[in-house]
Amino acid sequence: MESKIPNHIAIIMDGNGRWAEKRGLPRTLGHKEGANALRKIITYAGKIGVKYLTVYAFSTENWKRSKDEVDALMFLFKTYLKNEEKSIMKNNVRFLVSGRKDDVSPSLLEAIKKLEDKSKNNTGLTLNIAFNYGGRAEIVDAVNSILKSGIDNLAEEDFSKYLYNNIPDPELLVRTSGELRISNFLLWQIAYSEIYITDALWPDFDEKELDKAIESYNGRDRRFGGVKNA
Ligand code: FPP
Repeated sequence: MESKIPNHIAIIMDGNGRWAEKRGLPRTLGHKEGANALRKIITYAGKIGVKYLTVYAFSTENWKRSKDEVDALMFLFKTYLKNEEKSIMKNNVRFLVSGRKDDVSPSLLEAIKKLEDKSKNNTGLTLNIAFNYGGRAEIVDAVNSILKSGIDNLAEEDFSKYLYNNIPDPELLVRTSGELRISNFLLWQIAYSEIYITDALWPDFDEKELDKAIESYNGRDRRFGGVKNA
């Protein structure tokens, strides 16, 4: 049977720290290796026909990490934007960021905006990077913009329009490194997502691992609260 490719895959890229610690390396090297894994997955996802890929790169809770680690993650993202611009444009990727702007440095915000603008008409994979992102913060921010707009009654289907980026909900949520948690990721959007958890650490997550996640998704019976064949 032919494999059904999810339209939108969301990934909690967990386990960079453990990957590095297992090798006696600094955690920041784990994040660097994680960025390499992400590059491969973006290319592969686009190739197999995934339309949207959302990845959790930095949560609103990650500020609690050591200053060195936070600085390294900020630097990595900035370098990533600079180094990946060419390949994003060449691969027809539309680049988006979801998250709170507060606390992110003006130079990083500017680099984000520049790449969002430059890639906005690309028609291949939409890459949505969740950065300084929290699911509850996103819902509260949406509610505040609804209040500001003066609307006093809103249909469920219209709520997504007020989220950071109005893109379809993910059919598949992947979490690496074995933890059975949602960690404040896409709380509104994952209402009906299938969840796939693998023990693989994020830097080891490759094309074959994504195939396994999609294969598992293909074996699911998605009923959305209904009854099979109803
Ligand atoms: C979780 O692993 C990972 C993060 C907090 C950062 C994710 C960042 C990347 C994959 C880097 C690439 C992203 C961009 C956009 C440059 P962890 O540190 O919590 O691992 P642990 O649970 O093993 O400690």
